[in-house]
Amino acid sequence: METQTRSLLDHLSPERRAAIEEHVETLLSELTLEQKVGQLNQVNADFATGTAVADMDLEEGIRDGDIGSVLNFADLDEARRFQELAVEESDHGIPLVLALDVIHGYRTIFPIPLGEAASWNPEMAALSARVAATEAAADGVHWTFAPSVDVGRDPRWGRVMEAAGEDPYLTAETSKARVRGFQGDDLAADDTVLACAKHYVGYGASEAGREYNTVDISETTLREVHLPPFEACLEAGVGSVMNAFNLHERIPASSNEELVEGILRGELDFEDLVVSDWNSFGELIEHGVAGDLRDAARACIEAGSDVDMVSGAYATELVGLVEDGVVDEALVDDAVRRLLTVKGVLGLFDDPYRYFDEERRSQRILTDDHRAAAREVARESLVLLKNEADLLPVDERDDVALVGGLADSATDMLGAWRAEGDPDDVTTLRTTLTDRVESLTYVEGCDRDGAVGDEQLERAVEAVTSADVAIVAVGERYSQSGEAASRAHLDLPGDQRALLEALVETGTPVAAVLFSGRPLAIDWEADHVPALLEAWFPGVEAGPAIADVLLGEDDPSGRLPMSFPITEGQIPLYYNRLRTGRPAEDGEVDLTVAPENHAEKYLSRYLDVPNEPLYAFGHGESYTEFAYTDLTLGTDAVTAEETLSVEVTVENTGDRAGTEVVQLYVSDLVGSRARPVRELVRFDKLDIDAGDSATVSFELTAADLAFWTADETYAAEPGAFEVQVGHASDDITAVERFELVE
Ligand code: BGC
Repeated sequence: METQTRSLLDHLSPERRAAIEEHVETLLSELTLEQKVGQLNQVNADFATGTAVADMDLEEGIRDGDIGSVLNFADLDEARRFQELAVEESDHGIPLVLALDVIHGYRTIFPIPLGEAASWNPEMAALSARVAATEAAADGVHWTFAPSVDVGRDPRWGRVMEAAGEDPYLTAETSKARVRGFQGDDLAADDTVLACAKHYVGYGASEAGREYNTVDISETTLREVHLPPFEACLEAGVGSVMNAFNLHERIPASSNEELVEGILRGELDFEDLVVSDWNSFGELIEHGVAGDLRDAARACIEAGSDVDMVSGAYATELVGLVEDGVVDEALVDDAVRRLLTVKGVLGLFDDPYRYFDEERRSQRILTDDHRAAAREVARESLVLLKNEADLLPVDERDDVALVGGLADSATDMLGAWRAEGDPDDVTTLRTTLTDRVESLTYVEGCDRDGAVGDEQLERAVEAVTSADVAIVAVGERYSQSGEAASRAHLDLPGDQRALLEALVETGTPVAAVLFSGRPLAIDWEADHVPALLEAWFPGVEAGPAIADVLLGEDDPSGRLPMSFPITEGQIPLYYNRLRTGRPAEDGEVDLTVAPENHAEKYLSRYLDVPNEPLYAFGHGESYTEFAYTDLTLGTDAVTAEETLSVEVTVENTGDRAGTEVVQLYVSDLVGSRARPVRELVRFDKLDIDAGDSATVSFELTAADLAFWTADETYAAEPGAFEVQVGHASDDITAVERFELVE
């Protein structure tokens, strides 16, 4: 990894930087130890928990200088009241930094982050974050705890909805764009917020997909899979990083000196703020690595974690630890310096009230432009999983039956982590189709939990039987994914499969729109329902965006950021898996049937299901067809100092305009450690008219071929590589080889 200093101060003019540094040093020299520790204490405004600061009187705490930042404040009035207490009544008048989880929109809610990643268009993630920052900053928020950059390969884990899926590169590109969107060019501007890359690190590898469970990954997996998205965020200038809840090498991330001081600050040169996750300092006790809160506080400050989110470990223990000579006060100073620097960069010392402007607020929230942006992003997030006999798009002159509680459930469309999202702002699929289809019959069929009553079923069957086509909205409720929402069964909740079965049996063609915060195990549906459109949770513009695609105004252009399993038993399941000694991937053996002889049996396979996913990473159909030709490499032998150019021609061979996501994978054939079968290194999304062709060019460098070698360093090793280009990780249509030479 490259080394350079990474500080928010680097982006400022020398004068501004000097002014902030001077102000921060002056404050540091004036604050008492208690006041310094107070800065590191972050409390929650809207509810208390069983932690050491749960009973703290918030207003008194702010006035006394015992609180440096607040999360989850109610509204602009409360924000202003808190800030006035800090600035006008506390000893040194240090402004608070006010934080909130603004994850996929503030009031104008965009698709869940996994859906945004499905756009395979980082500009969509940047746009969503830009709008979110504009709205949040207008409502008094300085700091968002986003983006989540956890690489997730286990769809049982509910938090896969929050990040960008199973691939480090797609996650890195999407997350970088989010950081840019949130932070803009100037963190002191009134439409930007400080971003926070989280959860550092390895949280996406929670064992068995169970929330808050243990994590046990190798150094190589940490380096190759989980760290790169963080590094990408640092490159994009992210100003804060959040500790994860999990262990790494049996030590919790918050107190893990190797992770924080060693890698994040030491190797990656991150100089800004590290914040704990909710009570993650306190949880050292539950993890059994600290006997009490004092021990926990010592371990976390020594590891380099700065701000204590709600545990109270620092607030109650740090002063004593320093006074007893256990903790060096310089460590406290470093942490406070980083927090005060953030306050300076946000412009809070110049004007602590700069984010509280009622008029600006009223002009910037839920504007028409913001809604239009939400619709654009939602449209690009939709993934057409299958479309038998070109059932979609639906003709708006047809008699359409719309079935399913989710088709009219405003609250579910917002997904988890909805900040100030309001179901009243949502346009549902039912509302939109009522306007846009000439003859629409809506029946509930099942309620939002997926329960189907006899009468509901009867009415649904009746409506579908007499329609030309049925659109059936099925899936999870929004609360079935997100934090603390792991599921062991990934099928459609309740009786939704039975509902689909009955509707398919009517003989009327059925297109299912799936709502979910994760890949689902929908093997039966894939076999029996002619068309499937994955819609995730699309946000306030759910209806218009889905209708744009269902009715054919737009080509479905989303591609899967995570593999969909055939069954839960295949999990974890991801395309960039390592090779095994007994591979079963060459197509010579039919993995769909049980093995009959030695050659078929002693392979890395199951007896009862194929290895392959139902729908692979990168999969997504279009209403037209694309063909790849003329894959050309600039050379077949390249040195580590040179650039390899790759060109390929993509032709729209169908009869309507469409959008293709060109995916470029690299396969390193021999390495000092086993290498994944392929890895995504570039992609590009393009609109191509019917019959037209486009030539796409990429430039690859040694960095794209590098990995964590047996020498414990990132390097590209000389040898043979394959460039693989195609529609999806399992649909490679063109392959060329080259050598990396010394
Ligand atoms: C989550 C974080 C979040 C924090 C504050 C925690 O439970 O893990 O992602 O930022 O709460 O809401």
